[in-house]
Amino acid sequence: MGDRDAVSAACAATAIGVLFETFSAGGCRSYLLGCDASCAAILIDPELGLLDRYRGYLLQQGLTLRYVVDTHTHADHFSASRQLGEAFNVPVVMHRLSPAPHADLRLDDGDMLMTGSLKITALHTPGHTRDSMCLVMADRVFTGDTLLIGGTGRTDLPTGDPDELYESLFEKLLRLPGETLVYPAHDYKGRGHSTIAQEIAANPRLQVTERTGFVRMMRDLDLAAPTHLTEALRTNMSGGKTVTELLAEAASRVPFMSMTELHGRLQDDRSELVVIDVREKDEFESGHIPRARHLPRGQLELRVNNELPDPTVRIVTCCEFGKISILAAATLRELGYTRAVALDGGVKAWCEAGYVLDRSPVT
Ligand SMILES: [Fe+2]
Repeated sequence: MGDRDAVSAACAATAIGVLFETFSAGGCRSYLLGCDASCAAILIDPELGLLDRYRGYLLQQGLTLRYVVDTHTHADHFSASRQLGEAFNVPVVMHRLSPAPHADLRLDDGDMLMTGSLKITALHTPGHTRDSMCLVMADRVFTGDTLLIGGTGRTDLPTGDPDELYESLFEKLLRLPGETLVYPAHDYKGRGHSTIAQEIAANPRLQVTERTGFVRMMRDLDLAAPTHLTEALRTNMSGGKTVTELLAEAASRVPFMSMTELHGRLQDDRSELVVIDVREKDEFESGHIPRARHLPRGQLELRVNNELPDPTVRIVTCCEFGKISILAAATLRELGYTRAVALDGGVKAWCEAGYVLDRSPVT
């Protein structure tokens, strides 16, 4: 479970009964707020890899999820808001300028979300992205990537703007009371939270308080692109599926065959097993599993009827790494080849297991 944050003092101070849980995954932080009295909950910046943990926590605490909020369109990880919105039938909340079609409830600067005793006010803080917002709740602010502990969000990714970040920070966020607790969407050093006053005093990026200098500093940062940038943006902006999700869905619909099982069956002359290699022609011809037939993934639906007239035939699909073959086996099952399975591993693993390859060309 996530790092339990000690909020009893904060709750007493703010006189609100609030359950507060931080979830961490690879530097990403998500926050769950729960109202003791009404059992309503709000989840901020959920991450796809933690779906089951959120579900488990809500169940364990007897909370009912009311809203899922993304502080902005994330470029560095996969948001779980669409999946949670669908699973719990609750609105996905984002800023008005969010490109995500699955955002059901779009907030403007100053809008407030209310459920039970939870009241969260949106501050539009563009700069890291155009749709960035910070969420203020009583004694704390969830800063997304606008303000990090000892840093700020970068401004060089799509819709980022250092001028806007300057205004969002110096003319808005940093004007909150100094004692306001700061909870960012990222922290890679295991620090729980900070305060506005601490950040003003010690955050290196905030020491450049003059606009031109700040903008120049942000422009001069030479940061590497985040991993999965394109896929994360595509998925988070469109609500489309991640490759991992597609593979997991397909994998749940197909059985697998082990490398040794296939090897054993290929030694048996009576075996009627059909091995289908779904890679491209040149890959196939550079070495394939003996007896494999070539039927590339891109032509599977068009050619399979002619190639395999008997839908009851036993098929095992293979590819280079054992991923595309899962999609291919799932497609074959959908087309009525109900005995299609995928090889656990691919041609690469076949070689590593010491099994021979056939290098004959496509016939
Ligand atoms: Fe971000």
